[in-house]
Amino acid sequence: MEGSEAIHPDKSAESGALEARVTTGPFRKLEKDGEAYIVRGETGCLAFRFLTDDLFRIVAFRGEAPDWRTTPAVEEPQGGPGALTVEETEDAVRFATGSVAVIVDKSDLAVTVTNPEGGRIMRQEPVQWNGKAGVGAAYAMAEETHFYGLGEKTGFLDKRGEKYTNWNTDVYAPHVPEIEALYQSIPFVIPAAGGNGYGLFLDNPGRTDFDMRSEADRFTIGCSTGSFSLYFINGPSLKQIVSRYTALTGRMELPPKWALGYHQSRYSYMTQQEVLELARTFREKHIPCDVIYLDIHYMDEYRVFTFDPARFPDPEGMMRELRELGVRIVPIVDPGVKKDAKYPIYQEGVRGDHFCRKLEGDIYFGDVWPGTSAFPDFTEERTAKWWGEKHEFYTKLGISGIWNDMNEPALFNESKTMDLDVIHRNNGNPLTHEELHNLYGMLMSKATYEGLAERLGGQRPFVLTRAGYAGIQRYAAVWTGDNRSFWEHMALAVPMVLNMGLSGIPFAGPDVGGFAHHTSGQLLARWTQMGVFFPYLRNHSAIQTVRQEPWSFGPEVEAIVREYVGMRYRWMPHLYNLFRDAAETGLPVMRPLLLEYPADPNVANLSDQFLLGEDVLVAPVFRPDTDYRAVYLPEGVWIDYWTGEALEGGRHILAHAPLEKLPLYIRKGAVIAEGPLKQHADDPVREYAEFNVYGASAAADFRADYALYEDDGTSFAYREGEFDVLRANAAGTGAGLTLSWSYENGCRIAANRKTVRFRLRYPDFALGGAAVEGLAAITPEQLASGAIGYIVDTACGELIVQAADAPQGGRLAVRIG
Ligand code: GLC
Repeated sequence: MEGSEAIHPDKSAESGALEARVTTGPFRKLEKDGEAYIVRGETGCLAFRFLTDDLFRIVAFRGEAPDWRTTPAVEEPQGGPGALTVEETEDAVRFATGSVAVIVDKSDLAVTVTNPEGGRIMRQEPVQWNGKAGVGAAYAMAEETHFYGLGEKTGFLDKRGEKYTNWNTDVYAPHVPEIEALYQSIPFVIPAAGGNGYGLFLDNPGRTDFDMRSEADRFTIGCSTGSFSLYFINGPSLKQIVSRYTALTGRMELPPKWALGYHQSRYSYMTQQEVLELARTFREKHIPCDVIYLDIHYMDEYRVFTFDPARFPDPEGMMRELRELGVRIVPIVDPGVKKDAKYPIYQEGVRGDHFCRKLEGDIYFGDVWPGTSAFPDFTEERTAKWWGEKHEFYTKLGISGIWNDMNEPALFNESKTMDLDVIHRNNGNPLTHEELHNLYGMLMSKATYEGLAERLGGQRPFVLTRAGYAGIQRYAAVWTGDNRSFWEHMALAVPMVLNMGLSGIPFAGPDVGGFAHHTSGQLLARWTQMGVFFPYLRNHSAIQTVRQEPWSFGPEVEAIVREYVGMRYRWMPHLYNLFRDAAETGLPVMRPLLLEYPADPNVANLSDQFLLGEDVLVAPVFRPDTDYRAVYLPEGVWIDYWTGEALEGGRHILAHAPLEKLPLYIRKGAVIAEGPLKQHADDPVREYAEFNVYGASAAADFRADYALYEDDGTSFAYREGEFDVLRANAAGTGAGLTLSWSYENGCRIAANRKTVRFRLRYPDFALGGAAVEGLAAITPEQLASGAIGYIVDTACGELIVQAADAPQGGRLAVRIG
């Protein structure tokens, strides 16, 4: 027998549902609303706020007034554009700043953005409300348009032909090109052609969609819930777009220097003994290492803010010995708090009303590692503060770094996350989880960062996160989640991290060696070679996989890892300089060639090479048993790091790269600052600053310049001007070179350093007969012990000068024979 349900309207083709699509419709009127302008259409409206000459916001809305609230991702600039003109003609409403004109067509409220000369930059078709499916708009897409940004996505550098969803998702597998949503959501895209473009940032932490696939000449952007609040970011250069986007969503704080070192992790180092043994092994084997991670097994049945009393009986003792070895600990902290009436954190969370609840009032519980768990509501300031305070548990042990995982939040259920109707209190503006989902992880990391910062007595915290939203760079470094020990995943990490860099996240990297599946010696060697040139460097592997520590595959692989990790430490001054630049400008540490050579069509989708800063080109090998690879050298002259060969760019070359060799090229005339090899950031070795000048020339027009930023590497004193800028310069004189250096901001940080070195590597003149005026030739041993003098090494093709450092700087004259 059937009931009435059999004739439910949803079962009929004639459901009676109205076609729910509505667009803005034709123009009705223009209103000024404070600093904003509202263009009202018959059925929908567009509100405009011009924030600078190169940045404006459009909020599409229906009803009376727009919602100008932003997410915590955004810090809108104040003050407005230099000038704004507003004109209404018969056909259009026209706004103009000094940089762009915005024309709203009165027939349908389509928006065109042009440059002051009238050249079209962007065209947005009428915004469309699609009933329950949300709201979105289509944008004109030229044949030559490429797409960059979009944060952490699989696939190649250019996202044309792709379709993505932003919905933070714990994807254990597969990380394949067709996966549309991963752990992070950065709803920011850069459409660009010929290296010029603009940025669009949809500030919506619910589900958002970017479709560059479905239509031939348009791409679409939409959101399922919440408001269609879109920022237009003017270029035209990619660097301008990234810099303006990061001015809006914030820039990375300068991390502690130790966070730039080598990190070792495994799920899990099971006992205190194992951790100590591991730390000692790094020191015995002289493989530099700054950090060991504690994965979930350090906890008492996965209760956050606890240690397992059997596995880690004496955390203080462990930390003491690790401190002597110069190894730091970064423990994992997940958001799920075990439901356990005897567990103080759970008790506090319940009593203090810190956990997410359903509308009906019940605490929301879900399953994660500890079993049934409750989840702090980080949208509520008071709860974020509580969570931050709990980190006293770690900071009192001397821990200043925390690893936030499972913070999408990830749950062991069918939807993989929290129920969508969980309510976030959001400081008096309650919204559903569906509307705020993508913010959860970032707000957890924010709470963690701020909690640590308050408790570290002026030391810089380090937070690593898996989930995030636009702006995450202000609080945490990002690792790219559960990849696999596949060569394909090593290759995939390059465009993924490059696009994260273009999306404002400069401090990122994958699990080196691969997390799941079993790595091999070759894969570990190749991945580490590449990984030392990524901003974030951590070797991490999963439970039940083969061991992945550097020595797990015999002496050959161990030696390769030692050499390349050592190189990262020698290059630390340069790397730190790039981090400082990223913190100041928002431009990434690791860059697609595209950023430096925007007009070169060969690099528009180049996904298997990258630049470290501007001058270092890295071309990893992504295949086993492969000794050669094609490398594209952009225009200019590039010096092969290993052989010194000067190679004319603008062409492909075939690089010879046996296992121990990573193809690496330095732009002729570039300078790389190096320092002594250290086993960890605080290793008390003899300090020197060494300026490596590549391909120097004695020609009178040759100049190489470098400004080395230095601070104490750990505190925030640099914000009060406690830093040095050591400027080094090599200038051709016709008969040789003048080498000079000076301190531009005083010499505080380097006050105890005795020597400065210049190393002319592979100059374009013969070294035989070269000498440095007023200095004597010394041996390599004397150099190492700090003697003043110079070495001419014709076999290595280099001239090394060591001079006494002094606050007033110095000057040396190199004569060539
Ligand atoms: C998740 C993380 C991984 C971690 C594991 C256990 O899979 O992504 O890095 O090792 O959980 O905590």
